[in-house]
Amino acid sequence: MKPSSEDGAAQAGGPWEECFEAAAQLALRAGQIIRKALSEEKRVSTKTSAADLVTETDHMVEALILQELQQRFPSHRFIAEEAAAAGAKCVLTPSPTWIVDPIDGTCNFVHRFPTVAVSIGFAVNQELEFGVIYHCTEERLYTGRRGRGAFCNGQRLRVSGETDLSKALVLTEIGPRRDPTTLKLFLSNMERLLRAGAHGVRVIGSSTLALCHLASGAADAYYQFGLHCWDLAAATVIIREAGGVVMDTSGGPLDLMSCRVVAAGTREMAVLIAQALQTINYGRDDERPLTFMGSQTKKVLLTPLMHPARPFRVSNHDRSSRRGVTASSLQELLTKTLDALVIASGLVTLVLEEDGTVVDTEAFFQTLGDNTHLMVLEKGQKWTPGGTYIPARQPPKRQGIARVTFDLYKLNPKDVIGCLNVKATMYEMYSVSYDIRCPGLKALLRSLLWFLSHTAQMTGQCLVHTGTYMLRVLADTEERAVPSPRPRRGITSG
Ligand code: IPD
Repeated sequence: MKPSSEDGAAQAGGPWEECFEAAAQLALRAGQIIRKALSEEKRVSTKTSAADLVTETDHMVEALILQELQQRFPSHRFIAEEAAAAGAKCVLTPSPTWIVDPIDGTCNFVHRFPTVAVSIGFAVNQELEFGVIYHCTEERLYTGRRGRGAFCNGQRLRVSGETDLSKALVLTEIGPRRDPTTLKLFLSNMERLLRAGAHGVRVIGSSTLALCHLASGAADAYYQFGLHCWDLAAATVIIREAGGVVMDTSGGPLDLMSCRVVAAGTREMAVLIAQALQTINYGRDDERPLTFMGSQTKKVLLTPLMHPARPFRVSNHDRSSRRGVTASSLQELLTKTLDALVIASGLVTLVLEEDGTVVDTEAFFQTLGDNTHLMVLEKGQKWTPGGTYIPARQPPKRQGIARVTFDLYKLNPKDVIGCLNVKATMYEMYSVSYDIRCPGLKALLRSLLWFLSHTAQMTGQCLVHTGTYMLRVLADTEERAVPSPRPRRGITSG
């Protein structure tokens, strides 16, 4: 597929320049949000296993990235970690496709371990075009563009040229599963490499950043079973452009959806690693919806992303031409409207045919009812009331006015009781939410012991005071009961 200007290709900077710029800017914006959220309290839920975590920041950042990209490039496709977790399919078609991991290293993020990244990859014709990875805390932006090199904050990246496994520093990640068979295989793979003489095997908690270390020559190889296409897409371009090799653990060509990878500075090293490994089968990203341990958080938080396409009626400014279009976002509606009414100008205003109200925000667009009548005004054209217009804006459906959701979540996966979030959403736009925090079992026990010890202390003090008081009273009574001896007469002289 050749890029057209609508697809995001800028003529001057090569194919997909505009998309690349958008990715870099979004990664920096997302990184700021993540950096700020790192030290704050988080709402943590689990996904495929107790070690596969997600927070509301993952959802928020993903929504930000996808909404922005969808608006700018409405014809593109998207694969994103949390959308996939909510059931969206991961299929890489020839269409321009964005592959997004909003927070790579979520477990680190939850624990405030400062190794977290945003990863945005982009593929066309099933071939990776560019990748952008932002190390949020160290503020390092890694980029790679097919045929144009790999960089970190503008400095060119180069992999190490090591070919000897007995001199290698190898990186890996554990993956989400913790069942005994998987753990045994994981540890035995590590042991095999250490036995082969590798200088060390490191696990840093973020596969994308580990792969960036490889690209910058700080490590010689990387392997993993259980990572996903969103962990791998951007990093693959960066490594290849830094001169490295990314392949399947079988030694064959990389399959982005196969959940397994070996990457190295040299082919020799990659092959040696691949030969040493035993396979851990994680299935494929494009063959299953991910299964969940059970968390409601994802549903509530992902609702805004899932707007279905709805029908609208659009007309030109004098109502001489009228068409029907379906769209799920304002940007999509605008694009389709221009096509349907054959309007070449990109600078148009969309208004309600009924009263000329400008429809200029996504939030407002989402409140419009099915078959709302809209009008497109080109530069210089004005809205005029129609003689017999058909009622345009349907009142929002009653059930959409307010929605209350109850969301049980855990601040920490070890919490036994967890917290309850009550959230009221008005018009699908505004929401108020209140968290009722219930402490975990340990905290509960600690509070109970604290209460008992304070009660015991106070009781003790009361007893001491009462005892002292009683003693004093008894002493007084005794004193009054025993007659005091008569004073002796004094002997006077003179
Ligand atoms: C995970 C991390 C982790 C790796 C997993 C990844 P996430 O990504 O990179 O280190 O072991 O395979 O899925 O869940 O933090 O985005």
